Amino acid sequence: MRKWALVTGASSGIGEELARVYAQHDHNLIVVARREDRLESLARELRAKGTEVRVVAEDLAQPGAANELFLTVQRLGIHVDVLVNNAGFTYHGKFTAMDAGKVTDMVQLNVSTLAALSHRFAAPMIAAGDGRILNISSVTAFQPVPGFALYAAGKAFVLSFTEALAEELKGTGVSATALCPGLTDTAMVDGVSDDGGLPAIPTFMISDVRAVANEGFEAAERREVVRVPGIANQMTTLWVQSQPRWLVRTLGGIFGRQFMK
Ligand SMILES: NC(=O)c1ccc[n+]([C@@H]2O[C@H](COP(=O)([O-])OP(=O)(O)OC[C@H]3O[C@@H](n4cnc5c(N)ncnc54)[C@H](OP(=O)(O)O)[C@@H]3O)[C@@H](O)[C@H]2O)c1
Repeated sequence: MRKWALVTGASSGIGEELARVYAQHDHNLIVVARREDRLESLARELRAKGTEVRVVAEDLAQPGAANELFLTVQRLGIHVDVLVNNAGFTYHGKFTAMDAGKVTDMVQLNVSTLAALSHRFAAPMIAAGDGRILNISSVTAFQPVPGFALYAAGKAFVLSFTEALAEELKGTGVSATALCPGLTDTAMVDGVSDDGGLPAIPTFMISDVRAVANEGFEAAERREVVRVPGIANQMTTLWVQSQPRWLVRTLGGIFGRQFMK
Protein backbone atom coordinates (compact mmCIF):
# COMPACT_ATOMS: atom_id res chain seq x y z
CA MET A 1 0.00 0.00 0.00
CA ARG A 2 1.33 3.44 -0.96
CA LYS A 3 1.79 5.88 1.91
CA TRP A 4 0.22 9.34 1.90
CA ALA A 5 2.31 12.51 2.24
CA LEU A 6 0.71 15.90 2.86
CA VAL A 7 2.84 18.80 1.60
CA THR A 8 1.94 22.40 2.43
CA GLY A 9 3.15 25.10 0.05
CA ALA A 10 3.30 22.62 -2.84
CA SER A 11 2.35 25.17 -5.51
CA SER A 12 5.96 26.33 -6.05
CA GLY A 13 9.59 26.09 -4.96
CA ILE A 14 10.81 23.58 -2.39
CA GLY A 15 7.30 22.27 -1.61
CA GLU A 16 6.53 21.55 -5.28
CA GLU A 17 9.80 19.65 -5.61
CA LEU A 18 9.20 17.79 -2.35
CA ALA A 19 5.84 16.66 -3.72
CA ARG A 20 7.59 15.34 -6.86
CA VAL A 21 10.23 13.56 -4.76
CA TYR A 22 7.63 11.89 -2.51
CA ALA A 23 5.64 10.84 -5.59
CA GLN A 24 8.79 9.37 -7.14
CA HIS A 25 9.26 7.35 -3.96
CA ASP A 26 5.81 5.77 -4.17
CA HIS A 27 3.80 8.14 -1.99
CA ASN A 28 0.32 9.42 -2.77
CA LEU A 29 -0.07 13.11 -2.10
CA ILE A 30 -2.27 15.77 -0.57
CA VAL A 31 -0.99 19.09 -1.88
CA VAL A 32 -1.97 22.31 -0.14
CA ALA A 33 -1.52 26.01 -0.95
CA ARG A 34 -3.63 29.01 -2.05
CA ARG A 35 -2.99 28.85 -5.84
CA GLU A 36 -5.32 26.04 -6.87
CA ASP A 37 -4.43 26.28 -10.58
CA ARG A 38 -0.78 25.52 -9.84
CA LEU A 39 -1.72 22.65 -7.52
CA GLU A 40 -4.04 21.20 -10.19
CA SER A 41 -1.29 21.41 -12.78
CA LEU A 42 1.12 19.57 -10.43
CA ALA A 43 -1.61 17.02 -9.67
CA ARG A 44 -2.12 16.33 -13.41
CA GLU A 45 1.63 15.84 -13.86
CA LEU A 46 1.86 13.40 -10.93
CA ARG A 47 -1.37 11.52 -11.74
CA ALA A 48 -0.01 10.87 -15.23
CA LYS A 49 2.81 8.96 -13.51
CA GLY A 50 0.43 6.86 -11.38
CA THR A 51 0.30 8.89 -8.16
CA GLU A 52 -3.02 9.51 -6.41
CA VAL A 53 -3.26 13.23 -5.62
CA ARG A 54 -5.78 15.32 -3.66
CA VAL A 55 -5.70 19.10 -4.04
CA VAL A 56 -6.66 21.33 -1.12
CA ALA A 57 -6.70 25.07 -1.80
CA GLU A 58 -6.47 26.85 1.53
CA ASP A 59 -4.96 29.99 3.03
CA LEU A 60 -2.88 28.61 5.89
CA ALA A 61 -2.22 32.09 7.28
CA GLN A 62 -5.80 32.24 8.57
CA PRO A 63 -6.40 31.44 12.25
CA GLY A 64 -7.97 27.98 12.50
CA ALA A 65 -6.53 26.93 9.11
CA ALA A 66 -4.68 23.93 10.56
CA ASN A 67 -7.81 22.55 12.16
CA GLU A 68 -9.77 23.15 8.95
CA LEU A 69 -7.14 21.23 6.95
CA PHE A 70 -7.13 18.36 9.46
CA LEU A 71 -10.94 18.08 9.19
CA THR A 72 -10.74 18.19 5.37
CA VAL A 73 -8.27 15.29 5.40
CA GLN A 74 -10.52 13.35 7.80
CA ARG A 75 -13.48 13.91 5.42
CA LEU A 76 -11.30 12.53 2.60
CA GLY A 77 -10.79 9.43 4.76
CA ILE A 78 -7.01 9.54 4.35
CA HIS A 79 -4.42 8.60 6.98
CA VAL A 80 -1.42 10.90 6.56
CA ASP A 81 1.88 9.03 7.00
CA VAL A 82 4.14 12.01 6.27
CA LEU A 83 3.39 15.64 7.12
CA VAL A 84 5.61 18.18 5.35
CA ASN A 85 5.24 21.65 6.88
CA ASN A 86 6.81 23.68 4.10
CA ALA A 87 4.51 26.67 3.42
CA GLY A 88 6.11 29.93 4.46
CA PHE A 89 6.99 33.38 3.26
CA THR A 90 9.68 35.92 3.99
CA TYR A 91 9.93 39.68 4.24
CA HIS A 92 12.97 41.89 4.39
CA GLY A 93 13.16 45.36 5.84
CA LYS A 94 13.00 47.00 9.22
CA PHE A 95 10.64 45.11 11.51
CA THR A 96 9.07 48.36 12.76
CA ALA A 97 8.32 49.42 9.17
CA MET A 98 6.66 46.09 8.36
CA ASP A 99 3.00 46.09 7.41
CA ALA A 100 0.93 45.04 10.45
CA GLY A 101 -1.01 42.45 8.44
CA LYS A 102 2.22 40.85 7.25
CA VAL A 103 3.48 40.59 10.84
CA THR A 104 0.35 38.68 11.83
CA ASP A 105 0.33 36.51 8.69
CA MET A 106 3.99 35.56 9.03
CA VAL A 107 3.63 34.44 12.64
CA GLN A 108 0.41 32.63 11.78
CA LEU A 109 1.77 30.79 8.71
CA ASN A 110 5.44 30.23 9.57
CA VAL A 111 4.88 29.45 13.26
CA SER A 112 1.30 28.89 14.49
CA THR A 113 -0.07 26.82 11.60
CA LEU A 114 3.09 24.69 11.53
CA ALA A 115 2.78 23.94 15.25
CA ALA A 116 -0.96 23.29 15.04
CA LEU A 117 -0.61 20.96 12.02
CA SER A 118 2.17 19.03 13.79
CA HIS A 119 -0.10 18.72 16.83
CA ARG A 120 -3.19 17.56 14.92
CA PHE A 121 -1.46 15.11 12.55
CA ALA A 122 0.95 13.62 15.14
CA ALA A 123 -1.93 12.07 17.13
CA PRO A 124 -3.13 9.61 14.42
CA MET A 125 0.50 8.87 13.52
CA ILE A 126 1.24 7.92 17.15
CA ALA A 127 -1.91 5.79 17.23
CA ALA A 128 -0.66 3.98 14.09
CA GLY A 129 2.85 3.60 15.59
CA ASP A 130 4.48 5.14 12.51
CA GLY A 131 4.85 8.53 10.89
CA ARG A 132 7.15 11.34 9.86
CA ILE A 133 6.95 15.10 10.30
CA LEU A 134 9.27 17.17 8.12
CA ASN A 135 9.39 20.85 9.08
CA ILE A 136 11.13 23.33 6.79
CA SER A 137 13.27 25.67 8.83
CA SER A 138 16.29 27.59 7.47
CA VAL A 139 19.94 28.39 8.16
CA THR A 140 18.56 31.67 9.54
CA ALA A 141 17.30 29.59 12.49
CA PHE A 142 20.82 29.54 13.92
CA GLN A 143 21.26 33.29 14.38
CA PRO A 144 19.35 36.56 14.72
CA VAL A 145 19.14 38.20 11.28
CA PRO A 146 18.55 41.98 11.34
CA GLY A 147 16.60 42.84 8.19
CA PHE A 148 14.82 39.48 8.42
CA ALA A 149 14.14 39.68 12.17
CA LEU A 150 10.70 38.07 12.31
CA TYR A 151 11.39 35.52 9.56
CA ALA A 152 14.60 34.27 11.22
CA ALA A 153 12.97 34.19 14.65
CA GLY A 154 10.14 32.10 13.19
CA LYS A 155 12.64 29.67 11.69
CA ALA A 156 14.47 29.49 15.06
CA PHE A 157 11.11 28.50 16.55
CA VAL A 158 10.69 25.77 13.92
CA LEU A 159 14.16 24.36 14.64
CA SER A 160 13.83 24.41 18.43
CA PHE A 161 10.27 23.08 18.33
CA THR A 162 11.19 20.23 15.97
CA GLU A 163 14.22 19.18 18.02
CA ALA A 164 12.18 19.07 21.22
CA LEU A 165 9.32 17.27 19.49
CA ALA A 166 11.74 14.66 18.10
CA GLU A 167 12.84 13.85 21.65
CA GLU A 168 9.27 13.72 22.94
CA LEU A 169 8.29 11.36 20.12
CA LYS A 170 11.04 8.82 20.84
CA GLY A 171 9.62 5.31 21.12
CA THR A 172 6.36 6.17 19.34
CA GLY A 173 7.46 5.26 15.80
CA VAL A 174 6.94 8.87 14.77
CA SER A 175 9.88 11.14 13.95
CA ALA A 176 10.33 14.88 13.51
CA THR A 177 12.94 16.37 11.18
CA ALA A 178 13.97 19.98 10.65
CA LEU A 179 15.39 20.79 7.21
CA CYS A 180 17.46 23.98 7.31
CA PRO A 181 18.24 25.12 3.77
CA GLY A 182 20.39 28.10 2.88
CA LEU A 183 19.49 30.31 -0.07
CA THR A 184 17.63 28.15 -2.55
CA ASP A 185 16.63 28.92 -6.12
CA THR A 186 12.90 29.65 -5.67
CA ALA A 187 10.43 32.51 -6.07
CA MET A 188 11.20 33.48 -2.48
CA VAL A 189 14.83 34.30 -3.34
CA ASP A 190 13.72 36.06 -6.53
CA GLY A 191 11.61 38.28 -4.31
CA VAL A 192 14.60 39.16 -2.14
CA SER A 193 16.91 39.82 -5.10
CA ASP A 194 14.40 42.05 -6.86
CA ASP A 195 14.93 44.77 -4.29
CA GLY A 196 17.09 47.43 -5.92
CA GLY A 197 19.23 47.89 -2.80
CA LEU A 198 20.67 44.40 -2.80
CA PRO A 199 23.95 43.16 -4.18
CA ALA A 200 23.79 40.24 -6.62
CA ILE A 201 23.92 36.94 -4.74
CA PRO A 202 26.82 34.77 -6.00
CA THR A 203 25.35 31.72 -7.71
CA PHE A 204 27.55 29.29 -5.75
CA MET A 205 25.66 30.42 -2.63
CA ILE A 206 22.29 29.44 -4.09
CA SER A 207 21.23 25.81 -3.76
CA ASP A 208 19.34 23.87 -6.39
CA VAL A 209 15.74 23.36 -5.33
CA ARG A 210 15.67 19.69 -6.38
CA ALA A 211 18.83 18.94 -4.38
CA VAL A 212 17.29 20.57 -1.29
CA ALA A 213 14.06 18.60 -1.71
CA ASN A 214 16.01 15.35 -2.07
CA GLU A 215 17.91 16.11 1.14
CA GLY A 216 14.66 16.81 2.97
CA PHE A 217 13.17 13.51 1.82
CA GLU A 218 16.32 11.57 2.69
CA ALA A 219 16.66 13.17 6.15
CA ALA A 220 13.02 12.43 7.01
CA GLU A 221 13.31 8.85 5.72
CA ARG A 222 16.37 8.32 7.92
CA ARG A 223 14.53 9.97 10.82
CA GLU A 224 17.35 12.49 11.25
CA VAL A 225 16.46 15.37 13.56
CA VAL A 226 18.31 18.24 11.84
CA ARG A 227 19.62 18.40 8.27
CA VAL A 228 21.48 21.41 6.85
CA PRO A 229 21.90 20.87 3.08
CA GLY A 230 25.25 21.82 1.54
CA ILE A 231 28.78 21.98 2.93
CA ALA A 232 28.96 25.81 2.84
CA ASN A 233 25.73 26.08 4.87
CA GLN A 234 26.96 23.43 7.32
CA MET A 235 30.24 25.30 7.87
CA THR A 236 28.44 28.62 8.34
CA THR A 237 26.00 27.24 10.89
CA LEU A 238 28.81 25.52 12.79
CA TRP A 239 30.84 28.74 12.85
CA VAL A 240 27.85 30.76 14.01
CA GLN A 241 27.19 28.34 16.88
CA SER A 242 30.81 28.58 18.05
CA GLN A 243 30.77 32.39 18.34
CA PRO A 244 29.44 34.68 21.09
CA ARG A 245 25.92 35.86 20.31
CA TRP A 246 26.88 39.56 20.54
CA LEU A 247 29.40 39.05 17.73
CA VAL A 248 26.99 37.12 15.53
CA ARG A 249 24.20 39.70 15.88
CA THR A 250 26.60 42.63 15.39
CA LEU A 251 27.99 41.14 12.17
CA GLY A 252 24.40 40.30 11.17
CA GLY A 253 23.45 43.93 11.70
CA ILE A 254 26.28 45.14 9.43
CA PHE A 255 25.37 42.59 6.74
CA GLY A 256 21.64 43.22 7.23
CA ARG A 257 21.85 47.00 6.58
CA GLN A 258 21.41 46.39 2.88
CA PHE A 259 18.09 44.66 3.56
CA MET A 260 16.74 47.57 5.60
CA LYS A 261 16.87 50.40 3.04
N1 LIG B 1 14.17 29.72 -0.86
C1 LIG B 1 15.01 29.80 0.14
O1 LIG B 1 16.12 30.36 0.03
C2 LIG B 1 14.65 29.18 1.47
C3 LIG B 1 15.69 28.96 2.40
C4 LIG B 1 15.39 28.39 3.62
C5 LIG B 1 14.09 28.02 3.92
N2 LIG B 1 13.09 28.25 3.00
C6 LIG B 1 11.74 27.86 3.38
O2 LIG B 1 11.25 26.93 2.44
C7 LIG B 1 9.82 27.00 2.42
C8 LIG B 1 9.35 27.08 0.98
O3 LIG B 1 9.81 28.31 0.43
P1 LIG B 1 10.22 28.48 -1.10
O4 LIG B 1 11.58 29.05 -1.12
O5 LIG B 1 9.94 27.24 -1.83
O6 LIG B 1 9.24 29.67 -1.51
P2 LIG B 1 8.07 29.76 -2.58
O7 LIG B 1 8.47 29.22 -3.89
O8 LIG B 1 7.62 31.17 -2.47
O9 LIG B 1 6.94 28.78 -1.98
C9 LIG B 1 6.19 29.09 -0.87
C10 LIG B 1 5.01 28.16 -0.80
O10 LIG B 1 4.24 28.48 0.37
C11 LIG B 1 2.89 28.67 -0.02
N3 LIG B 1 2.23 29.66 0.79
C12 LIG B 1 2.62 30.94 1.03
N4 LIG B 1 1.70 31.58 1.75
C13 LIG B 1 0.71 30.68 1.99
C14 LIG B 1 -0.53 30.74 2.67
N5 LIG B 1 -0.94 31.87 3.26
N6 LIG B 1 -1.31 29.64 2.72
C15 LIG B 1 -0.92 28.49 2.10
N7 LIG B 1 0.24 28.37 1.44
C16 LIG B 1 1.04 29.46 1.38
C17 LIG B 1 2.96 29.16 -1.46
O11 LIG B 1 1.75 28.84 -2.15
P3 LIG B 1 0.59 29.87 -2.55
O12 LIG B 1 1.22 31.19 -2.82
O13 LIG B 1 -0.04 29.23 -3.73
O14 LIG B 1 -0.32 29.89 -1.36
C18 LIG B 1 4.10 28.31 -2.01
O15 LIG B 1 3.62 27.06 -2.43
C19 LIG B 1 9.43 28.19 3.29
O16 LIG B 1 9.04 27.76 4.56
C20 LIG B 1 10.71 28.98 3.37
O17 LIG B 1 10.78 29.77 4.52
C21 LIG B 1 13.34 28.80 1.79
